[in-house]
Amino acid sequence: MPAIYASAPGKIIIFGEHAVVYGRPAIAIPVTQVNAKAVITPNPLSPPGKIRVVAPDIALMADLDQLPAGHPLATSIRCVLASLKISRPPSLTLRVTSTIPLAAGLGSGAAVSVAIIRALSAFLGHPFPDDQVSELSFQVEKIHHGTPSGIDNSVITYGKPVFFARGKPIEFLEVTHPFMLVIGDTGVRSPTVEVVADVRQRWLTESNLMERLFDAAGAVALEGRQAVEGGDYPLLGQLMNRNHAILQEMNVSSLDLDRLVEASLVAGAVGAKLSGGGRGGNMIALVTPESSAKVIDAIQANGAVRTIVTTVGPRN
Ligand code: MEV
Repeated sequence: MPAIYASAPGKIIIFGEHAVVYGRPAIAIPVTQVNAKAVITPNPLSPPGKIRVVAPDIALMADLDQLPAGHPLATSIRCVLASLKISRPPSLTLRVTSTIPLAAGLGSGAAVSVAIIRALSAFLGHPFPDDQVSELSFQVEKIHHGTPSGIDNSVITYGKPVFFARGKPIEFLEVTHPFMLVIGDTGVRSPTVEVVADVRQRWLTESNLMERLFDAAGAVALEGRQAVEGGDYPLLGQLMNRNHAILQEMNVSSLDLDRLVEASLVAGAVGAKLSGGGRGGNMIALVTPESSAKVIDAIQANGAVRTIVTTVGPRN
């Protein structure tokens, strides 16, 4: 049995985070500049059933049966074995690495589970189709997010810009005019599960206000779809700014995120917003080829620990 390798990209949310958990539409795109990788090698000399899990980024080296129920890596593996009704797989080592920062709004949890599910199902001779990969990764997302919408596992599995609404078929966006985004990392780690839980708490106590904000974010995503597909950058930028203001009202921004958003706009970005769970992690700024260098400088001067430039175009 040869070694098997699979990888999955990161992601950003262009419109609609948090509101998407409450049924409103949202738009996300894959970010191929970062990724998670899973490599599986057979251990023919070890007894069947023994699975070694190695993940240097989180200092993990353990046998599967030592990992507790609810451990995200173990859950990804167990979901695949259960789906294939395999209780004693051939002995193997799974090595997971990722260049996607953890708890930064870039989808590291979903990317790791998608890579593992793809590699392991292929290693066991039954490579899962995308819809099954996405569904199993959604089960793992519940550990990361509590009440995930499903947008992260969808955009990361399919690797294409998606227009996503819970319970509806995923729609892929036709981006005919490429556009460029700068992604700026505050360096502040903020687990999505905590922010999603805070939003839920506030929704329980101030449901009218939160429903209004979710509606506003959903309307931005709907209009945003036209801007993305029609290549209307001024509108796209305006809508990103509007979405950021809505997210501030939801209380999921932070001083660091606001500072990077503001700095990018002053430096010439067409629009900017936080992306993902918020309270830390990453922001995104819509730039032109002419303004990108100035925006990157401004974001770095205001504390970004890392910047990524990504182009969204017909091929992703
Ligand atoms: C996380 O990438 C996006 C959130 O809307 C959570 C979710 O949709 O599951 C904050």
